[in-house]
Amino acid sequence: SCGIDRELRAPICCILGHVDAGKTKLLDCIRRSNVQGGEAGGITQQIGATYLPVQNIRERTSLKAEATIKVPGLLVIDTPGHQSFRNMRIRGSSLCDVAVVVVDITRGRGLENQTIESLDLLKHRNVRFVVALNKVDRLYGWKTCPNAPIAKALKNQSDDVRSEFKWRVTEVVTQLKENGLNAALYYENKKIKEVVNIVPTSSVSAEGIPDLLLLLVRWVLEIMMERLTYVNNVECTVLEVNEDKDFGTTIDVVLINGALRKGDQIVVCTKQGPVTTNIRYLLTPYPMKELKAKGVYKHHEELKAAQGVKIAVRGLRHAIPGTTLIVVKPGDDLEQAEAAAVQE
Ligand code: GTP
Ligand code: MG
Ligand code: NA
Repeated sequence: SCGIDRELRAPICCILGHVDAGKTKLLDCIRRSNVQGGEAGGITQQIGATYLPVQNIRERTSLKAEATIKVPGLLVIDTPGHQSFRNMRIRGSSLCDVAVVVVDITRGRGLENQTIESLDLLKHRNVRFVVALNKVDRLYGWKTCPNAPIAKALKNQSDDVRSEFKWRVTEVVTQLKENGLNAALYYENKKIKEVVNIVPTSSVSAEGIPDLLLLLVRWVLEIMMERLTYVNNVECTVLEVNEDKDFGTTIDVVLINGALRKGDQIVVCTKQGPVTTNIRYLLTPYPMKELKAKGVYKHHEELKAAQGVKIAVRGLRHAIPGTTLIVVKPGDDLEQAEAAAVQE
């Protein structure tokens, strides 16, 4: 606005919800990948990060060429829904800008435990979210319409399917209300800043995926333009520590704001206290690829937020996930940086 072009960073969007609601499958559907199929027992056990460039989002939303999307992409954070991984849901919800809570439309009888837990975490952190009401393809008699916007897919269903859909939506709206939340189907929602948007989806046949992506990239700008403005201060959280056969110790981080450069001096918290070291290699997976999946990485001299990044470093074998990475700039006081790393 005011004719000033701000540089926007990609919004960070955390996917939360009860075990097996379809969080990973939803991302697989968007990425055209099969991460879920490779998980032990079909259960996610680690936090993940995937960068979705705006070109891919455009392609999935079948927008006309002239329609603009102002964000450069979306950085999505996958979390486990199994009850024992609450720490990772906390981590995800504390570093994201917005969230998608995935709810299985075929589960009646009240919201499931980790759905409620996720809603509480988001409330605690003041994080805005949408609900993906997933697995619509499992409604009895559903005719699949691959990749269709949800309105078009619903038009294609019998009256029976449409009325089952309606009462299941009403159920979920009631259950959310019981948890203190006003929610509505996004295309009937007249107060998108106050009332939680519900987007019906299928992670198998991709109905509603165009709706979900388009809603996310537009809604975020309406609710948090300021927050998505790129600033030159590094804000960066450690997700995981790994040993890589080519790179030695690597840490997976989410770069929330600012830029990282190869060679940067950094301070990271470890079980033995703060460790100061240098970025040996600055790596990312290819766009639309999961950061935690073993794969081929791109090398970078510099990376700007928001990104999921793999950093090769010495001395960080005992880095503590969830802590903040601090960049020490020339002239900065190292002791101060170390104290800051411990504090955060
Ligand atoms: P955790 O990460 O372990 O909490 O599970 P999740 O929420 O990531 O769910 P996941 O993607 O592992 O999917 C669970 C099961 O539901 C798998 O068997 C999926 O194939 C199935 N599934 C997920 N989404 C859909 C959907 O939209 N339609 C149908 N029919 N099946 C789905
Ligand atoms: Mg999963
Ligand atoms: Na699962």
